[in-house]
Amino acid sequence: MNTRKKYILSLDLGSSAAGAVLFSREGQVVKQLQKEYEKYYPEPGWIEVDPNEIWFTMLSVMEELVASAGIEAGEIAGIGICNQRETTVIWDRQTGEPVYNAIAWQDRRTSKLCDEFRYQGFSELIRQKTGLILDAYFSASKISWILDHVKDGRIRAEQGQLAFGTIDAWLVWKLTGGKKHVTDITNASRTMVFNIHEQDWDAELLRLFNIPHKLLPAVCSNSEVVAHTAPGILDAEIPIAALAGDQQASLFGQMCLEPGMVKNTYGSGCFALMNTGSTPIVSDHHLLTTIAWRIGDTVTYALEGSVFGGSSVFRWIRDGLGLIESTAEIEALAQTEPDNGGVLFVPALSGLGTPYWDPYARGMIIGITRGTSSGHIARAALEGVALGIADALEAMEKDSGRAITELRVDGTSALYDFFMQMQTDILQCPVMRPQVMPAGATGVAYLAGLATGFWTLDEIKAQYKVARVFSPEAPQPGQARLREKWQKAIARVKNWDF
Ligand code: G3P
Repeated sequence: MNTRKKYILSLDLGSSAAGAVLFSREGQVVKQLQKEYEKYYPEPGWIEVDPNEIWFTMLSVMEELVASAGIEAGEIAGIGICNQRETTVIWDRQTGEPVYNAIAWQDRRTSKLCDEFRYQGFSELIRQKTGLILDAYFSASKISWILDHVKDGRIRAEQGQLAFGTIDAWLVWKLTGGKKHVTDITNASRTMVFNIHEQDWDAELLRLFNIPHKLLPAVCSNSEVVAHTAPGILDAEIPIAALAGDQQASLFGQMCLEPGMVKNTYGSGCFALMNTGSTPIVSDHHLLTTIAWRIGDTVTYALEGSVFGGSSVFRWIRDGLGLIESTAEIEALAQTEPDNGGVLFVPALSGLGTPYWDPYARGMIIGITRGTSSGHIARAALEGVALGIADALEAMEKDSGRAITELRVDGTSALYDFFMQMQTDILQCPVMRPQVMPAGATGVAYLAGLATGFWTLDEIKAQYKVARVFSPEAPQPGQARLREKWQKAIARVKNWDF
């Protein structure tokens, strides 16, 4: 054991903030810091971020974290990076400058392009090869769009002048001073041009989306040293020892290491993943089949329910409606009423994901009467998110043939006790919250720790502790009626903006 190395540093580039977490050898959070960055909404349904802005935000968070923790960068054994997936960056290899803003995963601008492929009958081919549902959520159509909309985009891509990456690849490029163009297998599995069975870029799908192979990064596994930080960054050559999509990282961080174990992360969106072991289960119920991780040569697969409405809805209640001053206040507001007063809130602000997959759906608040209060709306918003998760988990049980007997939860909104009790009661299954969060950063720290010999798997397993278990109360009389009304409401929002 190298005793000079005392820490693992996780970088967590989420949908709204750049965060960094420093872990001790005992797996405890020594210090964490995060900063929000701007998002741009040039047209309805479009969401962009500036790649340079996220890089500089990330860099300043890292530097401030290390300085304020009072440690030396040389004491960091390795860096793990987890990131919002699918968000698409294309940059010039020579200058390192992005050719367009990053198109965020929630962006719906390529829905029509995806429709065309659907009408031409490509959905099944895509599903079989990638495990994904043909949707604007994934990177492929976003890459195509950028190549079509920047000057000479496709020609420059064909000539190898441009590079594509999800946020992990972009950060590695910047951290290595432009020396390394690499993504990991979990992020690759979200692009819709990666064959999850062959574990390689798929030539047929690349042709379909007209994406030149030269644009693509090399693909690495999830626990290996892929590069070192460049001189001038944190004053030490630190191994970059793990990359993983944030949702897969949190599955690992939640120690869902056995088939059948499930976690849900309540971030901007909500993402429930079930470990399905070495078998990729092709879903019959509109879930995604995705790669959970590859460690050495062993691949673990997962089923995923991607529910697009999460804390982004609470933020809209804060910023769009002004009903609360901080998102955490949603709980207190919801508790000013004993029930939803007949109000239902479908949080389809960026369309519907699992299991409905409708990019044209939009959010809806229904059942308003003269007696409706802001408390009812807050309560209905929490219920809307929890009901979306219930739909995804129901599909998961059907696809896997396994009953879900516990749900491990993380993400900012998993800290809300009232909300978690509501989720437990709707699911009628125990919900467990771990001691150490954020789980994505923890998971990728574990993966980096394994790669650098900082930890063994047994040590990691011993570090995982549950902080609180929420147990379901007996079903309330209105419960079944709520699920029925939810389905009626879902039917009404579908195709709204078509
Ligand atoms: O697929 C998108 C997901 O990775 C985003 O996660 O936590 O940034 O909302 P989050």
